[in-house]
Amino acid sequence: MGEVKSAWVARAPSNIALIKYMGKSDSFRNIPENGSLSFTLNRLCTVVELEKGVRSETDASSLRWLPEKPCSEKLTLDAESDAESPTELEQWLRVPSLGNAGISRMIRHVERVREAARARYSEFGIALSDDLPGERSASWILRSANTFPAASGIASSASFFAALTMAAAAACAKEIEAFSQAWERDSAFRSFLAGISREGSGSSCRSFDGPYVEWEGEMIHRVESKLPELAHFVLLITEQGKEVSSSEAHARVKGSPLWSGRVERVTARLARLREAIRSGDMAEVSRLSWVEFWEMHSLFHTSADPFTYWQPATLALLQQLSGAVKSSAPPIVTMDAGPNIHVLVEATRASEWSEKLSHWMGGGKVLRDSQGAGPRLLFPAGARGARG
Ligand code: PMV
Repeated sequence: MGEVKSAWVARAPSNIALIKYMGKSDSFRNIPENGSLSFTLNRLCTVVELEKGVRSETDASSLRWLPEKPCSEKLTLDAESDAESPTELEQWLRVPSLGNAGISRMIRHVERVREAARARYSEFGIALSDDLPGERSASWILRSANTFPAASGIASSASFFAALTMAAAAACAKEIEAFSQAWERDSAFRSFLAGISREGSGSSCRSFDGPYVEWEGEMIHRVESKLPELAHFVLLITEQGKEVSSSEAHARVKGSPLWSGRVERVTARLARLREAIRSGDMAEVSRLSWVEFWEMHSLFHTSADPFTYWQPATLALLQQLSGAVKSSAPPIVTMDAGPNIHVLVEATRASEWSEKLSHWMGGGKVLRDSQGAGPRLLFPAGARGARG
């Protein structure tokens, strides 16, 4: 009744791992078997809006996902658009179409953020809101939009959970200025939010900084780099969803004979990659990333219950790229748990590479992105008054 609309909108990018998180030591809290290191993207991102609705006297539930608008193709933004302005985004934000399990996962995550805020906000000088998400107000509405093209096969859980964590964490603060100050000035606060996000979706914690982020156990930190600025391409091999989820893959790899020794090998590789990034040795980064993604896919291919994400076109392109990685100015090539191939090249050579990759793709889609620095709160802070 006459209540002013309160909403928190956050945007968070996806990230692509060069050293992979594959295999969990604690699947309840998403603690990895080994450290990983990733490159944070910029435009390939998710925007989440958490809106506090008007309380209804009779409503007992505390968090609701109202299917007020059907999800449609328009759920996704064009990857070429900048997705910067909250007013522009508002027309795209939709209540995600989720089953019961998906809805419970979202609710559990907002509750996780709320409880962590309650336990630790005072350490960061942030006073708690009088109306924490999911507590007193009857209806909290979640809307989201991806900048990935529809059904691109690009995983959105990392960017989604990072954006949801950020929006919910902002909604837990009484004063948004205190939240923004902690976010901007205190790296421990960034790491704290990344840790909450990790419990929702493991790899989302690496989206909290950038462009190079290392994740070890419960901690993340930025890795200093002397590499040139990089451009990022995704070769979209198929637009179909994957048959084996990453959660399933984390479990199944342990049934591979190659799992034995994996943690020691990947730990040594991570140390070498960190050094190569710090010293700006692009050829070494390319070599280590190449070996690492082949090793992860070999674990998939040799697990007790083997599976593959590769399509015939994946192999054809990898053949082309295997020549390129032996050149004097090699690209960084990697793959996630999917059929698409990610290629990182010096930004100054992006046009030349864009042409080459499009030619190899023979008309197939190639997405282009750049290096990013992590999530941002678009509203209330930093919204430049666009939502009044
Ligand atoms: O965060 P999850 O559980 O979706 O696992 C991600 C696993 C990979 O994307 C395959 C590797 C990684 O480190 O991101």
